[in-house]
Amino acid sequence: MVTVLVLLAFVVYGTWAAFRNGHYFADPYLSPFYSPCLSSSCVDGYTPEFLGQWWPLSPALLILPFPLGFRLTCYYYRKAYYRSFWLSPPACAVPDVHRKYTGERRIPLIFQNVHRYFFYLAVPFAALLTYDAVRAFDFPKGIGVGIGTGFLVVNAVLIWLYTLSCHSCRHLCGGKLRRLSEHPLRARMWRFVSKLNTRHMTLAWASLIWIGVTDLYIWLVAAGHLTDHAWVF
Ligand code: FES
Repeated sequence: MVTVLVLLAFVVYGTWAAFRNGHYFADPYLSPFYSPCLSSSCVDGYTPEFLGQWWPLSPALLILPFPLGFRLTCYYYRKAYYRSFWLSPPACAVPDVHRKYTGERRIPLIFQNVHRYFFYLAVPFAALLTYDAVRAFDFPKGIGVGIGTGFLVVNAVLIWLYTLSCHSCRHLCGGKLRRLSEHPLRARMWRFVSKLNTRHMTLAWASLIWIGVTDLYIWLVAAGHLTDHAWVF
């Protein structure tokens, strides 16, 4: 029930945030739902030049399918929503409510195997959110730190931890090797990712909730409902 309620709340909030197409930028903070800012409503010079500011609709509509696809096909979220929404199975050792278990070897669930490709797409998004976190120190009147800076820095850290703890990342580091000991660098990376991987569920929830909270904060500031406190040096 908790899984259903939290995921539903995120879907409702995310849909509203994606379609509102406004109040997603409070210089120097950019909402993670709208990053990279491909619309001209961001200040000049904010978006990396090679991406441009050309999209006429809500930028979120163009961007969200990639992180959304990554999360929808994530091994942990699959377990969470198969169990909570489809009761398939409701828990360990509890029979499936469906008469026949067909697994993920047939259409449509076989498409969940695209997860490893979504992982490759998720890495540039983590890099873009890091760029936004660094830009969040660059205020119109100089370099500083604001409450919004804190939100964006924590957001970037959580996104990296969630992305690097992915099972596909773990396989990329240490998979398809006969002897891991002959590849010391990959073995070290694999050990590091394996440690993170044990926390994948926690990181999945923490990063999901934090994206929503960060967007909410930036929306409140951009819409004038809240004043951001910043210390500019
Ligand atoms: Fe969860 Fe890859 S398994 S993000």
